[in-house]
Amino acid sequence: MKRSRWLFTLVSSICAGVMLQQASAQEKVIRPGEVWLDDRGRPIEAHGGGILKVKDTYFWFGEDRTPSNDPDKRYVSCYSSTDLVHWKFRNQVLKLSNPENLNNWILERPKVFYNDQTKKFVMYAHLDAFGYKLARVAVAVSDTIDGDYKYVKSFRPLDQESRDIGQFIDDDGAAYLIFESRPTHGFFIAKLSSDYLSVEKQVSFIRAPLEGGAIVHYKGLYYVLGSHLTGWKPNPNVYATSKSLAGPWSEFKDVAPPEVNTYNSQSSMLVKVTGKKDTTVIYIGDRWKPSALTDSRYIWMPLEIGSGNMRLPEPKPWTLDVKSGVAAVLP
Ligand code: GAL
Repeated sequence: MKRSRWLFTLVSSICAGVMLQQASAQEKVIRPGEVWLDDRGRPIEAHGGGILKVKDTYFWFGEDRTPSNDPDKRYVSCYSSTDLVHWKFRNQVLKLSNPENLNNWILERPKVFYNDQTKKFVMYAHLDAFGYKLARVAVAVSDTIDGDYKYVKSFRPLDQESRDIGQFIDDDGAAYLIFESRPTHGFFIAKLSSDYLSVEKQVSFIRAPLEGGAIVHYKGLYYVLGSHLTGWKPNPNVYATSKSLAGPWSEFKDVAPPEVNTYNSQSSMLVKVTGKKDTTVIYIGDRWKPSALTDSRYIWMPLEIGSGNMRLPEPKPWTLDVKSGVAAVLP
């Protein structure tokens, strides 16, 4: 090959490679159930997670189950994104040592709130021990969103047993904790105190034994979604609606055909993306893999929602444009 031709081939293949890389960096496709890589090329570790939006950036917090983590600690990781598709690893924001001398302890379903008065980021998580008998929430705080959160305390919200927790921030900014409470055969929606370090008052008690609780406020209606109590095994998740968070709540209905068990996933959160053209509500669920929790996958899908109905379509790759709010499931 002549030197000039060789140089041309080299330059054009480098250009093609760069273009390909740019195309995949720009590709705004969410692929439910597939391995989801962060900016370092490592699988995202944010199970049972929660999303907090600050200005134009979304922060995803969740259980970090990386096998090389110190087995005596429990970890929460934080990622950030402006498009909800490409995620930058920020920090293992919680690396907690056994806070209360517990046996076989767990820290699950972390959720972070920002308190405008104290300017602190407040993390809630389910803290438990052997046999899930402790049933408390843990609270940790940080001055920055992706800083090292410091453990503050644990408690039982409203003096009730609390296992799976969920987070809801209403359009007016009010912050709520959702928690399942086994002895009551139901779950609570509770308003956080003004500093967010505790729970101020009960807003609603829903007499339905459901966990993985999530809420969205969409076109004048509140939709609450939850899973039945089957541990890591998936089940048909159900939803109800109400004009007010305080209820009365409608009967619960299946969010997907019951035989598909929520497409082998469990609810964790509902995220509303309000754009210039449309509003998309995203179902955020976990496809748990109890034999290797680190490899549990994320099932994110745009919901078909409106007029009191909510339907989770079959998971397929889909695109999202956060600016317009438009989501499209790929054929
Ligand atoms: C589920 C719960 C998960 C985890 C699991 C353990 O019911 O949603 O967060 O606690 O049980 O079996």
